[in-house]
Amino acid sequence: MQIYKVGGAVRDRLLGKPVTDIDWVVVGATTEEMLALGYRPVGADFPVFLHPKSGEEYALARTERKSGRGYGGFTFHASPEVTLEEDLIRRDLTINAMAEDNQQNLTDPYHGQRDLEDRILRHVSPAFAEDPLRVLRVARFAARYADLGFTVAPQTLELMRQLSESGELQALTAERSWKEISRALMEDQPQVFIQVLRDCDALRVLMPEVDALFGVPQPEVHHPEIDTGIHTLSVLEQSALHKQPLTVRWACLLHDLGKGLTPTEEWPRHIAHEHTGLKLIKAVNERFKAPKDCQELALLVGKYHTHGHRALELKASTLLELLQSFDVYRRPQRFEEFIVACEMDARGRKGLEQRSYPQADYLRGAAKAAREVAVQPLLEKGLKGPELGEALKRERLKALKVYKENA
Ligand code: CTP
Repeated sequence: MQIYKVGGAVRDRLLGKPVTDIDWVVVGATTEEMLALGYRPVGADFPVFLHPKSGEEYALARTERKSGRGYGGFTFHASPEVTLEEDLIRRDLTINAMAEDNQQNLTDPYHGQRDLEDRILRHVSPAFAEDPLRVLRVARFAARYADLGFTVAPQTLELMRQLSESGELQALTAERSWKEISRALMEDQPQVFIQVLRDCDALRVLMPEVDALFGVPQPEVHHPEIDTGIHTLSVLEQSALHKQPLTVRWACLLHDLGKGLTPTEEWPRHIAHEHTGLKLIKAVNERFKAPKDCQELALLVGKYHTHGHRALELKASTLLELLQSFDVYRRPQRFEEFIVACEMDARGRKGLEQRSYPQADYLRGAAKAAREVAVQPLLEKGLKGPELGEALKRERLKALKVYKENA
């Protein structure tokens, strides 16, 4: 049997990037031989094993064929006769279809190294189309390697478009899609992920609510970039530049969905888009079964981002309502994430990327003032239940009035 390092580990070593996990392919072996050597099978009927010591994945060389719709519709064939080249040809991109033996000799039948040098994401063969998840994967790799100058080959983009139009993307489970989306959003240039999905028409299928923002104008005074789709990409870009967590990046992507619903005769204004957008945010959240913290923050940022921008003009009572809505007393981190999402929204505008955002510290100060109101004196007065709640609110309102006067 021969063992080769494959996929991302080879690619990233050649790119000079850190290699995190290593996948191996085993040629010329049977399942029985693997078990006899102490490898542990991953699934009952899939020829993938874990190394007894390192825990790394070793897969028997296999060919695959699509036998139906969706992810379940796959048949594969693993046997000692399957060659390395046959295993590599079923893979997604040429840069992912290279193998390396323990002497670092490269097997590269589909010219992955050349595409690495030319900075091209290119499918290996028509078998690319057998797994619709690859549309998201390619967009994710485009985001990850954008700083190196990688682009998607036109023929690959065309295949991705055909997959998008075929209805196959709908067959992806929420879990598989979310895994790709969340990883892509955490890349350095997540806006490239969305842009590539748009370029191959997958965005219209996966997130029509985001796709609909392109071509929708906003008032030039606040938005020199005018287009709401471009603005959304810039906000996402800012969130990555400022190293924000996934929750914030997700909220940035979805914050303006309501603008896609504005009747054209009202353009470029978007009255109450914060409210009209909520049902769309909810729909996208649920479609991908986003984690609870991502869902919550996206809805809150969608609903309140204009409050964030107007923070300095808000009445003390409105400030209090905002803080209460975030349950800032028990969830201070969530309010902080709201503040930075608003800041990213303010910076994600053409030419305004470096602007200062005094609203952020002002909101932090307000949260601090409200949180510093002590409960103890009210408890000592014998207040309980709803009465205590009301008294606490009154005290917090007082504290916010004082804060406003002194700010
Ligand atoms: N692969 C594929 N099609 C998929 C998923 C994986 O062809 N839908 C192949 C690719 O050759 C890939 C390898 O399996 O390189 C390993 O997949 P995975 O570990 O998911 O990705 P990596 O390429 O290692 O990338 P990452 O660094 O993002 O994990």
